[in-house]
Amino acid sequence: MTLDFLLHLLPHTFVLLWAVAPTLYYVHAQECDLSKGEWVVDDPYYPLYDASRDCPFIVQGFNCLRNGRPDQDYLKYRWKPFACDLPRFDGVKFLETYRGKKIMFVGDSISDNMWQSLACLLHIAVPESNYTFTRLTKHLSIFRFLAYEVSIVWVKDGYLVDTVRDREKGRIIKLDSVSSRYKWNGDVLIFNTYHWWFHTGETPIHFQVGNEIMKDMDNTEAYKTGLTTWSNWIDSNIDPSKTTVIFQGIAAAHSGEKHCLEQTKPEEGPKPTYPGVDIVQNVLSNMKSHVYWLDITLQTQLRIDGHPSVFTGRGTSYEDCSHWCLAGAPDTWNEMLYAVLLGNRYYYHL
Ligand SMILES: *[C@@H]1O[C@H](CO)[C@@H](O)[C@H](O)[C@H]1NC(C)=O
Repeated sequence: MTLDFLLHLLPHTFVLLWAVAPTLYYVHAQECDLSKGEWVVDDPYYPLYDASRDCPFIVQGFNCLRNGRPDQDYLKYRWKPFACDLPRFDGVKFLETYRGKKIMFVGDSISDNMWQSLACLLHIAVPESNYTFTRLTKHLSIFRFLAYEVSIVWVKDGYLVDTVRDREKGRIIKLDSVSSRYKWNGDVLIFNTYHWWFHTGETPIHFQVGNEIMKDMDNTEAYKTGLTTWSNWIDSNIDPSKTTVIFQGIAAAHSGEKHCLEQTKPEEGPKPTYPGVDIVQNVLSNMKSHVYWLDITLQTQLRIDGHPSVFTGRGTSYEDCSHWCLAGAPDTWNEMLYAVLLGNRYYYHL
């Protein structure tokens, strides 16, 4: 074949490519499953910040470096979904996009973990920009970027359904009732509930449906009922065209026999299905509103090295294998949040 002949073919090749390109795009452009992946070392990009220096507002319990944790390999991991790469977190772009808006986390202290990580990731992007950090009450904390009028709020609410105090029975969880004591509103709402339902060792939790109070209700059953009540509340009270609703999935704890003491490396998958994940999946898939499920269970199951362990600042007799060091795993949850809110979810390998 002569060169002339090849050149003659060239336009046809382009026409052909042009014709099949949309098909190729369609084939590749399926939504990437961010939940399935592995932890890979990405030094020196990680950690994204030094909590002991860059974000003075991080609470002591999460600040493992300042609490004297000696090993540092745990800081260097990036979550790599099998099907794509998470986009890099661009704090300035986040603040510009959400100028004048409110991002609200509602949930237990795992929400606090993620809330503090987000405040920190945004702060390091604009370190000169003035902010306020307010704990209005035990249940309401607000981080504000003044120049951007962006508020990042954490409402502490471990069950998402109503609770009442009874003099004899202690706390009673009302499985069929959401009155949202603190108004859940924001441009983005990020909910989480799990661990409080399965707290053991305390006095038995009482559950209530209607007027009936139950003492020995199965926790899993109660979790399912409560989460369903929450999902119905969202379906009838939140306008999805105004508010993005996200469910922060279940963060695995490592409080079992093995604990997390002296763990310095992530584990490798796969892992058995974590209890409760099927309930979350089931409840979310039965909702009318589109709620994005930030499924963080597998990645946290693998991070036995990511907990504060005995570096909580409360002395070495106290071991925390439920919360997460900052910098650490919660930064990844916010990278996923960023991908959902601001990224193109249809990433694919180039
Ligand atoms: C931050 O606030 C201080 C005091 O109000 C003000 O002088 C300063 O200009 C502000 N900085 C920025 C970057 O807006």
